[in-house]
Amino acid sequence: MTSTMMFSSFTVDDKTRESLSEDLAERLHGQPLDSDRHESILAGVGSHVLQQVLDDHILTHLAQFVSNRERVLLLRNLPVQQLPPTPVEGYADEPALAMTNAMHLGLVRLCGLTPYSVPYENDGRLMRNVVPNPQAAASTSSWGSDTDFSWHTDNPHLPFGFSGVDPRAFIPRYLSFFAMRNEEAVPTDVVSIDAAVDLMDPLALQVLGEPGFTVGAPASNDRFQTQPLAPHPLVEISGADRRVRYDPGTVTASNPRCEAALAQWRQALDSLTGEELVLGPGDFLIFDNYRILHRRRAFEPGPVTQARWLRRCYAS
Ligand SMILES: [Fe+2]
Repeated sequence: MTSTMMFSSFTVDDKTRESLSEDLAERLHGQPLDSDRHESILAGVGSHVLQQVLDDHILTHLAQFVSNRERVLLLRNLPVQQLPPTPVEGYADEPALAMTNAMHLGLVRLCGLTPYSVPYENDGRLMRNVVPNPQAAASTSSWGSDTDFSWHTDNPHLPFGFSGVDPRAFIPRYLSFFAMRNEEAVPTDVVSIDAAVDLMDPLALQVLGEPGFTVGAPASNDRFQTQPLAPHPLVEISGADRRVRYDPGTVTASNPRCEAALAQWRQALDSLTGEELVLGPGDFLIFDNYRILHRRRAFEPGPVTQARWLRRCYAS
């Protein structure tokens, strides 16, 4: 295990991985389970098997991920099923991915979280395939590849959510990923918002907390369904708790004072390195989308059937 204030990482040993694989295959055998229609069954099977097989210290970290206010958790070397070609057009044969979905949704459940889809994105489906879609190569979205998708949070054009509410109208709190292929070795970079906030001078930081910004929807959204958030702050601070909404392609300032603060913010972000995570097959990643910024650099996709493929699911 490695751990910093914001980041915990575990690797499942090979014997445990084999046990997980055999047990899941046995329990899912012959059942055409779909991630949208049978999400709860998949999560139930997955969480049961993971609970039987994973080490106690990993299970404890998963169970305490939210209550300990951890920000990033990485679990490596989970089983990888027989993989179909990468669904570069965007959507996969979900029943064929039952084992992967059982692990992904089971891990989200072990974190005490609820996976959910949103009506304004991804055709309303639960699992987003993060793939280099040839139709969207130039977009700064999870289907893009040609251009850098710099430090951002997902769906920042919505209000921050809170406990016990339907999460779909709010910024997704947690982003979870399961990696299928990444032969291109494209990193997913993560960094705490504190690293950027701490580089700001106090006055400029105060301006970022004022309602002087317009925050538009990202390219992944079905535009007719979502409106920009304005006028709104980018950084919200309540005591020691800070939350950020930001997408470099969709945020604009409404006056010169806000423009100057935004310029300082962009400069601060440009200087950040963060944790560079090259997710490989069988890696599960979850992080707090209110307190972690993430990015993906431009890359050259491999052959379409074998191109980079992550699976992403929102959780609250
Ligand atoms: Fe993103």
